Amino acid sequence: TEQSYIMIKPDGVQRGLVGEVIKRFEQRGYTLKGLKLMNVEKSLAEKHYEDLSARPFFPALVDYICSGPVVAMVWEGKGVVATGRKMIGATNPLASEPGTIRGDFAIEVGRNVIHGSDSVESATREIGLWFPEGVANWTPVAKPWIYE
Ligand code: GTP
Ligand code: MG
Repeated sequence: TEQSYIMIKPDGVQRGLVGEVIKRFEQRGYTLKGLKLMNVEKSLAEKHYEDLSARPFFPALVDYICSGPVVAMVWEGKGVVATGRKMIGATNPLASEPGTIRGDFAIEVGRNVIHGSDSVESATREIGLWFPEGVANWTPVAKPWIYE
């Protein structure tokens, strides 16, 4: 099944939004397969956002991700990469629709609360990067009540 790497950024943790974010993914019907609170090494933040390394905001972005603990998660389910991105909302929170996580809880692009993988290929790369130890193996009993 499809998996996505979802991360509550340091501002989301500091603002007490961990439960809110997890609640939304759980209630949608997705399955939590990996979860940890961790401080991020600069090298890991740089690797995670390596595609953006030439952008002027890259140093500030790396500092932001390393500024406090993040909640690193793997969520699983049908279409979780694209649907997760919809639930998160547009990159710039001023453009994020109300009802999305960023649209409900953020204002600035440099403090946008949460990360979600942008493709299945990115998800595979990011899960390998953040969960080299692997994730949990389990199947929720509610599965037949979520999937036809
Ligand atoms: P992620 O889920 O965090 O990857 O965000 P995204 O996929 O919606 O956007 P993108 O991958 O293009 O950018 C990664 C992160 O860099 C964003 O979430 C922002 O935190 C930050 N970022 C992107 N563009 C800007 C910008 O123009 N200015 C600043 N300060 N930060 C930016
Ligand atoms: Mg991105």
